[in-house]
Amino acid sequence: MLWQGLLKQYAKYLPINDNTPVLSLNEGNTPLVFLEKLSERLGIELHVKTEGANPTGSFKDRGMVMAVAKAKEEGSDTVICASTGNTSASAAAYAARAGMKSIIVIPDGKIAMGKLAQAVMYGAEIVAIQGNFDQALKMVKNISETEPITLVNSVNPYRLEGQKTAAFELCDQLGKAPDVLAIPVGNAGNISAYWKGFKEYHDLKQSGLPKMHGFEAEGAAAIVRNKIIEDPETIATAIRIGNPASWDKAVDAAKSSGGKIDEVTDEEILYAYKLLAREEGIFAEPASCASIAGVMKQVRSGVISKGSLVVAVLTGNGLKDPNIAIDSTNFKPIVLPNEEKVVYRHIRGVVPQ
Ligand code: F0G
Repeated sequence: MLWQGLLKQYAKYLPINDNTPVLSLNEGNTPLVFLEKLSERLGIELHVKTEGANPTGSFKDRGMVMAVAKAKEEGSDTVICASTGNTSASAAAYAARAGMKSIIVIPDGKIAMGKLAQAVMYGAEIVAIQGNFDQALKMVKNISETEPITLVNSVNPYRLEGQKTAAFELCDQLGKAPDVLAIPVGNAGNISAYWKGFKEYHDLKQSGLPKMHGFEAEGAAAIVRNKIIEDPETIATAIRIGNPASWDKAVDAAKSSGGKIDEVTDEEILYAYKLLAREEGIFAEPASCASIAGVMKQVRSGVISKGSLVVAVLTGNGLKDPNIAIDSTNFKPIVLPNEEKVVYRHIRGVVPQ
């Protein structure tokens, strides 16, 4: 059957009725890719769920299609969200698709250029505040309580309903749940959604339950430290969050699955980011690579045992943040004169003879 997006594909598992508009940008159905070299290096079977293949380049589309469809069904004509970038890109796209307005509140100077470009193109009303994501979220929550606009951050339960479908897909692609699901944690909505999805699918299809291993960035590791971080900092701007909204749900997912919420350093994230691109041909944004960095750390320490079947979620596309790619590799183009002989000589120096 031709793929027609999540609301059609998973209608019976989602809060959909006759009045729910069938909104779609053909989201979902993202590849599960086996990582041959990394698996061998780590002594595990490692696959990645490449959520950057979604229409706006991140997993947010799964939740946003559901949340915006419900907002439209309920008669709303405007959605609002705080965002480190991906949520805003997705909200703006689905609002445009549904003929609605979108308002996004972002931390000034702290969102990746690709994400900002998307919000601009999709026609969002963009407000940049001199504050961080946590402060932006507090604002939009309050505003949505007094104004007739719908909040589409992951505190909106329809977001997690949509996002849980990734767990369904993954079980179908693998034939069962993995031993370990490794996932980046920012506002903690996605880990909560996956856990809900795995449990529901297991109840229906006995697909099994993975251990849920979530990874925060060290400079924003509120759950790991068990305290709110007032000034979170990390190069992985997507997960630069110091007071995750779904904190309790994430702790429950880790605890009841026998998993763990852990942290990784910016250095570990960047190492995984480059390794993934150079050795496996997969370009995922830095926050995504917290999952790979986490798997590498936990295989080293023995938390993940050799031979385990592991799926790491790559939450966003590498093209979202072109600046970090150039800056973190110190790339400088070699500029040569427009002369074939000179170019030939240079290439001969590069190519092994
Ligand atoms: N990875 C990426 C690429 C993200 O954009 C986010 C969150 C996460 C991981 C963490 O997911 O919040 O459900 O734990 N980005 C949000 C945003 C906060 O505004 O785009 P989470």
